[in-house]
Amino acid sequence: MLIDRYGRRHTSLRVSVTDRCNLRCTYCMPEATPDYHPRSEILTFEEISRVAQVAASLGVTKVRLTGGEPLVRSELHTLVRMLDNIENLKSIALTTNGTLLAEQAPRLYDAGLRSINVSLDALNEADFQAATRRPGLTKVLAGIDAARDLGMVVKLNAIAMRGVTESQLESFGLFARETGITVRFIEFMPLEADQFWSEQQVLGADEIITRLGEAIRPLVLLNEDSSSPATQYEFNDGVGRIGIISSVTKPFCGSCDRFRLTADGKVRSCLFGDDSGDVRKLLRNSADDQAIAELLREVISNKKAGHGTDDLTFLRPHRAMHSIGG
Ligand code: GTP
Ligand code: 5AD
Ligand code: SF4
Repeated sequence: MLIDRYGRRHTSLRVSVTDRCNLRCTYCMPEATPDYHPRSEILTFEEISRVAQVAASLGVTKVRLTGGEPLVRSELHTLVRMLDNIENLKSIALTTNGTLLAEQAPRLYDAGLRSINVSLDALNEADFQAATRRPGLTKVLAGIDAARDLGMVVKLNAIAMRGVTESQLESFGLFARETGITVRFIEFMPLEADQFWSEQQVLGADEIITRLGEAIRPLVLLNEDSSSPATQYEFNDGVGRIGIISSVTKPFCGSCDRFRLTADGKVRSCLFGDDSGDVRKLLRNSADDQAIAELLREVISNKKAGHGTDDLTFLRPHRAMHSIGG
Protein backbone atom coordinates (compact mmCIF):
# COMPACT_ATOMS: atom_id res chain seq x y z
CA MET A 1 0.00 0.00 0.00
CA LEU A 2 1.13 3.54 -0.72
CA ILE A 3 0.16 5.39 2.45
CA ASP A 4 1.72 8.74 3.31
CA ARG A 5 2.50 10.44 6.66
CA TYR A 6 -1.03 11.85 6.78
CA GLY A 7 -2.71 8.47 6.30
CA ARG A 8 -3.72 9.12 2.69
CA ARG A 9 -3.93 5.97 0.55
CA HIS A 10 -2.74 6.41 -3.01
CA THR A 11 -4.87 4.37 -5.37
CA SER A 12 -4.83 6.60 -8.44
CA LEU A 13 -1.88 7.05 -10.81
CA ARG A 14 -1.95 9.80 -13.44
CA VAL A 15 0.38 9.10 -16.34
CA SER A 16 1.44 11.90 -18.66
CA VAL A 17 2.29 10.22 -21.96
CA THR A 18 3.70 13.33 -23.67
CA ASP A 19 4.42 16.97 -22.86
CA ARG A 20 3.47 17.95 -26.43
CA CYS A 21 0.19 19.56 -27.32
CA ASN A 22 -1.62 20.79 -30.42
CA LEU A 23 -3.34 23.64 -28.51
CA ARG A 24 -1.78 26.54 -26.59
CA CYS A 25 -4.22 27.25 -23.72
CA THR A 26 -3.24 30.51 -22.03
CA TYR A 27 -3.48 29.01 -18.52
CA CYS A 28 -1.13 26.17 -19.40
CA MET A 29 1.26 26.70 -22.29
CA PRO A 30 3.25 29.64 -23.64
CA GLU A 31 2.32 31.11 -27.03
CA ALA A 32 5.54 29.88 -28.64
CA THR A 33 6.26 26.16 -28.76
CA PRO A 34 8.18 25.33 -25.57
CA ASP A 35 11.27 23.13 -25.36
CA TYR A 36 9.69 19.71 -25.31
CA HIS A 37 11.54 16.76 -23.84
CA PRO A 38 13.51 14.94 -26.54
CA ARG A 39 11.89 11.68 -27.56
CA SER A 40 14.73 9.61 -26.10
CA GLU A 41 13.77 10.92 -22.63
CA ILE A 42 10.12 9.94 -22.98
CA LEU A 43 9.09 6.64 -21.42
CA THR A 44 8.14 3.88 -23.85
CA PHE A 45 4.77 2.13 -23.50
CA GLU A 46 6.59 -0.89 -22.06
CA GLU A 47 8.26 1.30 -19.43
CA ILE A 48 4.96 2.97 -18.50
CA SER A 49 3.25 -0.41 -18.22
CA ARG A 50 6.00 -1.71 -15.98
CA VAL A 51 5.58 1.21 -13.57
CA ALA A 52 1.78 0.78 -13.67
CA GLN A 53 2.17 -2.92 -12.91
CA VAL A 54 4.36 -2.23 -9.88
CA ALA A 55 1.94 0.51 -8.77
CA ALA A 56 -0.96 -1.95 -9.10
CA SER A 57 0.90 -4.40 -6.87
CA LEU A 58 1.00 -1.59 -4.27
CA GLY A 59 -2.74 -0.97 -4.32
CA VAL A 60 -3.21 1.38 -7.27
CA THR A 61 -6.52 0.57 -8.97
CA LYS A 62 -6.94 3.46 -11.39
CA VAL A 63 -4.73 4.90 -14.12
CA ARG A 64 -5.58 8.10 -15.96
CA LEU A 65 -3.67 9.03 -19.12
CA THR A 66 -2.92 12.72 -19.54
CA GLY A 67 -0.54 14.94 -21.53
CA GLY A 68 0.22 17.57 -22.92
CA GLU A 69 -2.37 16.13 -25.24
CA PRO A 70 -2.25 12.34 -24.88
CA LEU A 71 -3.77 11.67 -28.31
CA VAL A 72 -0.81 13.28 -30.11
CA ARG A 73 1.25 10.31 -28.93
CA SER A 74 0.97 7.82 -31.76
CA GLU A 75 -0.79 4.52 -31.20
CA LEU A 76 -1.98 5.46 -27.72
CA HIS A 77 -4.58 2.71 -27.92
CA THR A 78 -1.72 0.18 -27.71
CA LEU A 79 -0.86 1.52 -24.25
CA VAL A 80 -4.52 1.41 -23.22
CA ARG A 81 -4.63 -2.27 -24.16
CA MET A 82 -1.44 -3.02 -22.21
CA LEU A 83 -2.81 -1.28 -19.12
CA ASP A 84 -6.18 -2.95 -19.50
CA ASN A 85 -4.40 -6.30 -19.23
CA ILE A 86 -2.83 -5.49 -15.85
CA GLU A 87 -4.53 -7.44 -13.12
CA ASN A 88 -5.92 -5.30 -10.28
CA LEU A 89 -6.22 -2.16 -12.41
CA LYS A 90 -9.97 -1.59 -12.36
CA SER A 91 -10.13 1.59 -14.36
CA ILE A 92 -8.23 3.15 -17.26
CA ALA A 93 -9.33 6.69 -18.11
CA LEU A 94 -8.18 9.51 -20.36
CA THR A 95 -8.12 13.30 -20.08
CA THR A 96 -7.90 14.89 -23.54
CA ASN A 97 -8.55 18.17 -25.32
CA GLY A 98 -10.74 16.19 -27.69
CA THR A 99 -9.41 17.58 -30.98
CA LEU A 100 -8.18 14.17 -32.17
CA LEU A 101 -10.82 12.10 -30.43
CA ALA A 102 -13.31 11.55 -33.25
CA GLU A 103 -10.78 9.60 -35.32
CA GLN A 104 -9.29 7.66 -32.41
CA ALA A 105 -12.37 6.86 -30.32
CA PRO A 106 -13.14 3.47 -31.97
CA ARG A 107 -9.55 2.20 -31.49
CA LEU A 108 -9.50 3.42 -27.89
CA TYR A 109 -12.82 1.75 -27.18
CA ASP A 110 -11.63 -1.54 -28.70
CA ALA A 111 -8.53 -1.35 -26.50
CA GLY A 112 -10.72 -1.16 -23.38
CA LEU A 113 -11.16 2.56 -22.69
CA ARG A 114 -14.57 3.45 -21.25
CA SER A 115 -14.12 6.81 -19.56
CA ILE A 116 -12.97 10.13 -21.05
CA ASN A 117 -12.74 13.64 -19.61
CA VAL A 118 -12.68 16.28 -22.34
CA SER A 119 -11.23 19.72 -21.64
CA LEU A 120 -13.33 22.44 -23.27
CA ASP A 121 -13.44 26.08 -22.20
CA ALA A 122 -16.05 27.60 -24.50
CA LEU A 123 -18.98 26.56 -26.65
CA ASN A 124 -18.44 29.09 -29.44
CA GLU A 125 -15.43 29.17 -31.75
CA ALA A 126 -14.30 32.74 -30.99
CA ASP A 127 -14.12 32.17 -27.24
CA PHE A 128 -12.64 28.71 -27.77
CA GLN A 129 -9.79 30.30 -29.72
CA ALA A 130 -9.35 33.05 -27.14
CA ALA A 131 -8.69 30.36 -24.53
CA THR A 132 -6.69 27.87 -26.61
CA ARG A 133 -5.00 30.16 -29.19
CA ARG A 134 -5.96 27.59 -31.85
CA PRO A 135 -9.10 26.65 -33.83
CA GLY A 136 -10.87 23.37 -33.06
CA LEU A 137 -14.30 23.57 -31.40
CA THR A 138 -16.06 21.61 -34.17
CA LYS A 139 -13.55 18.78 -33.87
CA VAL A 140 -13.89 18.64 -30.08
CA LEU A 141 -17.69 18.44 -30.29
CA ALA A 142 -17.37 15.68 -32.92
CA GLY A 143 -14.99 13.84 -30.59
CA ILE A 144 -17.44 14.03 -27.69
CA ASP A 145 -20.24 12.68 -29.93
CA ALA A 146 -18.05 9.85 -31.25
CA ALA A 147 -17.06 8.72 -27.76
CA ARG A 148 -20.63 8.84 -26.48
CA ASP A 149 -21.99 6.99 -29.52
CA LEU A 150 -19.61 4.17 -28.63
CA GLY A 151 -21.02 4.10 -25.10
CA MET A 152 -18.11 5.74 -23.28
CA VAL A 153 -18.73 7.91 -20.22
CA VAL A 154 -17.73 11.48 -21.10
CA LYS A 155 -17.29 14.38 -18.68
CA LEU A 156 -16.36 17.89 -19.63
CA ASN A 157 -13.72 20.02 -17.84
CA ALA A 158 -13.75 23.82 -18.27
CA ILE A 159 -11.26 26.22 -16.72
CA ALA A 160 -12.71 28.62 -14.10
CA MET A 161 -10.88 31.82 -14.88
CA ARG A 162 -12.07 35.39 -14.59
CA GLY A 163 -12.69 37.07 -17.94
CA VAL A 164 -12.80 33.68 -19.68
CA THR A 165 -15.45 31.60 -17.97
CA GLU A 166 -18.21 34.02 -16.88
CA SER A 167 -19.52 34.41 -20.44
CA GLN A 168 -19.67 30.62 -20.84
CA LEU A 169 -21.51 29.65 -17.67
CA GLU A 170 -25.04 29.74 -19.02
CA SER A 171 -24.10 27.91 -22.25
CA PHE A 172 -22.34 25.19 -20.28
CA GLY A 173 -25.26 24.88 -17.85
CA LEU A 174 -27.69 24.46 -20.74
CA PHE A 175 -25.29 22.03 -22.44
CA ALA A 176 -25.20 19.89 -19.28
CA ARG A 177 -29.01 19.88 -19.16
CA GLU A 178 -29.46 19.07 -22.86
CA THR A 179 -26.83 16.35 -23.17
CA GLY A 180 -26.72 14.78 -19.71
CA ILE A 181 -22.93 15.31 -19.74
CA THR A 182 -21.48 16.44 -16.39
CA VAL A 183 -19.71 19.78 -16.85
CA ARG A 184 -16.97 20.49 -14.30
CA PHE A 185 -15.31 23.83 -13.68
CA ILE A 186 -11.66 23.77 -12.55
CA GLU A 187 -10.41 26.74 -10.58
CA PHE A 188 -7.38 28.27 -12.29
CA MET A 189 -4.17 27.21 -10.47
CA PRO A 190 -0.71 28.80 -10.67
CA LEU A 191 0.63 26.19 -13.10
CA GLU A 192 0.67 28.23 -16.32
CA ALA A 193 3.88 28.70 -18.30
CA ASP A 194 3.50 32.49 -18.55
CA GLN A 195 3.22 33.01 -14.78
CA PHE A 196 0.46 35.63 -14.64
CA TRP A 197 -1.70 33.86 -12.02
CA SER A 198 -3.18 35.86 -9.18
CA GLU A 199 -6.00 35.05 -6.77
CA GLN A 200 -8.12 37.69 -8.49
CA GLN A 201 -8.01 35.69 -11.74
CA VAL A 202 -9.65 32.65 -10.16
CA LEU A 203 -13.38 32.35 -10.68
CA GLY A 204 -14.29 30.71 -7.39
CA ALA A 205 -16.68 27.84 -6.76
CA ASP A 206 -19.25 29.89 -4.82
CA GLU A 207 -19.53 32.50 -7.54
CA ILE A 208 -19.99 29.85 -10.23
CA ILE A 209 -22.82 28.19 -8.30
CA THR A 210 -24.55 31.52 -7.63
CA ARG A 211 -24.25 32.73 -11.21
CA LEU A 212 -25.49 29.44 -12.68
CA GLY A 213 -28.39 29.48 -10.24
CA GLU A 214 -29.36 32.97 -11.35
CA ALA A 215 -28.93 32.26 -15.07
CA ILE A 216 -30.74 28.91 -15.15
CA ARG A 217 -32.13 27.62 -11.84
CA PRO A 218 -30.68 26.81 -8.41
CA LEU A 219 -28.20 23.99 -7.98
CA VAL A 220 -28.37 21.51 -5.13
CA LEU A 221 -25.39 19.69 -3.64
CA LEU A 222 -25.26 15.95 -4.30
CA ASN A 223 -23.61 13.35 -2.11
CA GLU A 224 -19.93 13.73 -2.65
CA ASP A 225 -17.86 11.05 -4.39
CA SER A 226 -14.72 11.04 -2.29
CA SER A 227 -12.62 9.54 -5.10
CA SER A 228 -13.12 12.59 -7.32
CA PRO A 229 -11.74 16.09 -6.69
CA ALA A 230 -15.02 17.53 -7.98
CA THR A 231 -17.91 18.58 -5.75
CA GLN A 232 -21.10 17.54 -7.55
CA TYR A 233 -24.28 19.58 -7.99
CA GLU A 234 -27.53 19.10 -9.83
CA PHE A 235 -30.09 21.67 -11.02
CA ASN A 236 -33.05 21.56 -8.65
CA ASP A 237 -35.37 19.98 -11.23
CA GLY A 238 -32.99 17.00 -11.45
CA VAL A 239 -31.85 17.87 -14.99
CA GLY A 240 -28.15 18.60 -15.55
CA ARG A 241 -25.08 17.96 -13.43
CA ILE A 242 -22.32 20.42 -12.61
CA GLY A 243 -19.02 19.70 -10.83
CA ILE A 244 -16.57 22.14 -9.30
CA ILE A 245 -12.90 21.36 -8.76
CA SER A 246 -12.21 24.02 -6.16
CA SER A 247 -8.47 23.50 -5.72
CA VAL A 248 -7.89 27.13 -4.71
CA THR A 249 -10.93 28.27 -2.71
CA LYS A 250 -11.71 24.90 -1.05
CA PRO A 251 -8.70 22.62 -1.42
CA PHE A 252 -9.24 18.88 -1.20
CA CYS A 253 -5.64 17.86 -0.46
CA GLY A 254 -6.74 16.16 2.79
CA SER A 255 -8.44 13.42 0.75
CA CYS A 256 -5.90 13.28 -2.09
CA ASP A 257 -5.50 9.74 -3.45
CA ARG A 258 -3.25 10.42 -6.45
CA PHE A 259 0.30 10.72 -7.67
CA ARG A 260 1.82 11.30 -11.06
CA LEU A 261 4.28 9.87 -13.56
CA THR A 262 5.59 12.49 -16.00
CA ALA A 263 6.27 11.70 -19.65
CA ASP A 264 10.02 11.81 -18.97
CA GLY A 265 9.76 9.37 -16.09
CA LYS A 266 9.64 11.48 -12.92
CA VAL A 267 7.32 10.41 -10.11
CA ARG A 268 5.56 13.39 -8.49
CA SER A 269 3.52 13.19 -5.32
CA CYS A 270 1.65 16.45 -6.06
CA LEU A 271 0.92 18.90 -8.89
CA PHE A 272 2.98 21.39 -6.89
CA GLY A 273 6.51 20.99 -5.54
CA ASP A 274 9.42 19.42 -7.37
CA ASP A 275 10.09 16.14 -9.14
CA SER A 276 11.04 13.70 -6.46
CA GLY A 277 11.71 10.33 -8.05
CA ASP A 278 13.54 9.37 -11.23
CA VAL A 279 11.96 6.09 -12.26
CA ARG A 280 13.38 6.29 -15.81
CA LYS A 281 16.88 5.89 -14.41
CA LEU A 282 15.80 2.71 -12.63
CA LEU A 283 13.97 1.37 -15.67
CA ARG A 284 16.97 1.91 -17.91
CA ASN A 285 19.44 0.44 -15.44
CA SER A 286 17.80 -2.98 -15.21
CA ALA A 287 16.37 -2.31 -11.76
CA ASP A 288 14.02 -4.98 -10.41
CA ASP A 289 10.38 -4.40 -9.47
CA GLN A 290 11.29 -4.13 -5.83
CA ALA A 291 13.53 -1.11 -6.50
CA ILE A 292 10.74 0.57 -8.45
CA ALA A 293 8.29 -0.16 -5.61
CA GLU A 294 10.77 1.29 -3.13
CA LEU A 295 11.02 4.51 -5.15
CA LEU A 296 7.21 4.87 -5.29
CA ARG A 297 6.99 4.31 -1.52
CA GLU A 298 9.68 6.88 -0.86
CA VAL A 299 8.03 9.57 -3.03
CA ILE A 300 4.67 9.03 -1.32
CA SER A 301 6.21 9.02 2.15
CA ASN A 302 7.66 12.49 1.47
CA LYS A 303 4.38 13.98 0.26
CA LYS A 304 3.42 17.34 1.73
CA ALA A 305 0.08 18.00 3.45
CA GLY A 306 -1.15 20.39 0.78
CA HIS A 307 -0.24 22.51 -2.23
CA GLY A 308 -0.62 25.93 -0.58
CA THR A 309 -2.46 27.84 -3.31
CA ASP A 310 -5.21 28.61 -0.80
CA ASP A 311 -2.95 30.43 1.67
CA LEU A 312 -0.40 31.54 -0.96
CA THR A 313 2.39 29.42 0.51
CA PHE A 314 2.68 27.40 -2.70
CA LEU A 315 5.96 26.81 -4.50
CA ARG A 316 5.55 27.11 -8.24
CA PRO A 317 6.76 23.90 -9.86
CA HIS A 318 9.61 24.16 -12.38
CA ARG A 319 7.26 22.63 -14.94
CA ALA A 320 4.11 24.13 -16.45
CA MET A 321 0.89 22.09 -16.47
CA HIS A 322 1.45 20.50 -19.91
CA SER A 323 4.65 18.93 -18.62
CA ILE A 324 3.12 17.65 -15.36
CA GLY A 325 -0.04 16.19 -16.80
CA GLY A 326 -3.01 17.97 -15.22
P1 GTP B 1 -12.51 11.80 -12.30
O1 GTP B 1 -12.03 10.49 -11.85
O2 GTP B 1 -13.33 11.73 -13.53
O3 GTP B 1 -13.09 12.64 -11.23
O4 GTP B 1 -11.19 12.51 -12.85
P2 GTP B 1 -10.33 13.69 -12.31
O5 GTP B 1 -11.15 14.88 -12.06
O6 GTP B 1 -9.45 13.20 -11.26
O7 GTP B 1 -9.42 13.92 -13.59
P3 GTP B 1 -9.27 15.09 -14.59
O8 GTP B 1 -8.07 14.81 -15.39
O9 GTP B 1 -10.52 15.34 -15.33
O10 GTP B 1 -8.95 16.30 -13.62
C1 GTP B 1 -9.48 17.53 -13.85
C2 GTP B 1 -8.57 18.58 -13.33
O11 GTP B 1 -8.61 18.59 -11.93
C3 GTP B 1 -7.11 18.40 -13.64
O12 GTP B 1 -6.82 18.77 -14.92
C4 GTP B 1 -6.49 19.30 -12.63
O13 GTP B 1 -6.54 20.62 -13.08
C5 GTP B 1 -7.41 19.08 -11.46
N1 GTP B 1 -6.80 18.10 -10.60
C6 GTP B 1 -6.69 16.77 -10.82
N2 GTP B 1 -6.00 16.18 -9.83
C7 GTP B 1 -5.66 17.15 -8.97
C8 GTP B 1 -4.93 17.19 -7.77
O14 GTP B 1 -4.41 16.19 -7.28
N3 GTP B 1 -4.80 18.39 -7.16
C9 GTP B 1 -5.34 19.51 -7.66
N4 GTP B 1 -5.16 20.63 -6.99
N5 GTP B 1 -6.03 19.53 -8.82
C10 GTP B 1 -6.18 18.38 -9.46
N1 5AD C 1 -5.22 25.56 -13.61
C1 5AD C 1 -6.25 24.67 -13.59
N2 5AD C 1 -6.46 23.73 -14.51
C2 5AD C 1 -5.60 23.69 -15.52
N3 5AD C 1 -5.54 22.89 -16.59
C3 5AD C 1 -4.45 23.22 -17.32
N4 5AD C 1 -3.80 24.24 -16.74
C4 5AD C 1 -4.50 24.56 -15.63
C5 5AD C 1 -4.33 25.53 -14.62
N5 5AD C 1 -3.31 26.40 -14.65
C6 5AD C 1 -6.49 21.84 -16.86
C7 5AD C 1 -7.18 21.98 -18.19
C8 5AD C 1 -7.51 20.58 -18.54
C9 5AD C 1 -6.58 19.74 -17.71
C10 5AD C 1 -5.69 18.85 -18.49
O1 5AD C 1 -5.81 20.62 -16.94
O2 5AD C 1 -8.32 22.75 -18.11
O3 5AD C 1 -8.82 20.25 -18.20
FE1 SF4 D 1 -2.83 21.42 -24.26
FE2 SF4 D 1 -4.34 20.73 -22.17
FE3 SF4 D 1 -2.37 22.49 -21.88
FE4 SF4 D 1 -4.53 23.17 -23.28
S1 SF4 D 1 -4.49 22.65 -21.07
S2 SF4 D 1 -2.39 23.56 -23.88
S3 SF4 D 1 -5.08 21.28 -24.24
S4 SF4 D 1 -2.13 20.38 -22.40
